[in-house]
Amino acid sequence: MNLENICHQTCALAKQAGEFIRKESTRFKQTDVEIKSFNQLVSYVDKTAEEILVQGLKTIFPEAGFITEEKTIATEEKEWMWVVDPLDGTTNFVHQIPVYSVSIGLLQNKKPMLGVVYEINRDELFYASKESKAFLNGVEINVKQNHDLSKSLLATGFPYYDFEVMPKYIHALQRLMRESQGMRRLGSAAVDLAYVACGRFDAFFEYGLSPWDVAGGALIVERAGGKLSSFYGDDNFIFGKTIIASSANLYTDFFNVIDESFNK
Ligand code: IPD
Ligand code: CA
Ligand code: CA
Repeated sequence: MNLENICHQTCALAKQAGEFIRKESTRFKQTDVEIKSFNQLVSYVDKTAEEILVQGLKTIFPEAGFITEEKTIATEEKEWMWVVDPLDGTTNFVHQIPVYSVSIGLLQNKKPMLGVVYEINRDELFYASKESKAFLNGVEINVKQNHDLSKSLLATGFPYYDFEVMPKYIHALQRLMRESQGMRRLGSAAVDLAYVACGRFDAFFEYGLSPWDVAGGALIVERAGGKLSSFYGDDNFIFGKTIIASSANLYTDFFNVIDESFNK
């Protein structure tokens, strides 16, 4: 088991799938969109990209099982699991907003060991393994050093299918809009996490996420010196549907806003 080597090969594969998605973006038609469920879109692009990734990842590390968004392969519980979102930002892709990514995580006993996020249209490859630092296109990245929430730029994902905790969410937004320099909604959780890792965003929070949205980016944030938790402050942020990712310096202040909004 050589994580560095696996990471290297996974990066090349993510770029290959990204290349396919980039090419298809010019051919794609609105009639190609399928509705999985309320506001959950998909097309042949997501599914074919996932097939490319699954085939490649099977070769890179045959012992690992899979959790994939488009279910092109059955989930079989194993010690090592690939967690794959072939196209994170499908709604952006469908509407020709150029922010979308390929996201791949590798878990061992449910803990992230490797993460790769490829932001397709900027040709930006973010990656890290448990045994390495975090990198963007080969250059080491780190989270921001800023200590001051009032100087921070934040990111989130607006709820679009689960509106149950909307009042709490709006409460958090009201506070964070007043207390920061601004809030962004890019439309790809994997990119949000990668941007926390490289210091473009100070912090990110979202609820209603799935493991494939965050498994790749989470380890990149961790290895870039950031801090992650669920909205409850524990480490159940891959499978627990809520995530906070922040620079280490800002984590406590940021967590306090989320905690006060969602948990009190
Ligand atoms: C979505 C994106 C989006 C986030 C959603 C995710 P998809 O993933 O990451 O930013 O707000 O919660 O479902 O469906 O485009 O792969
Ligand atoms: Ca996703
Ligand atoms: Ca997706």
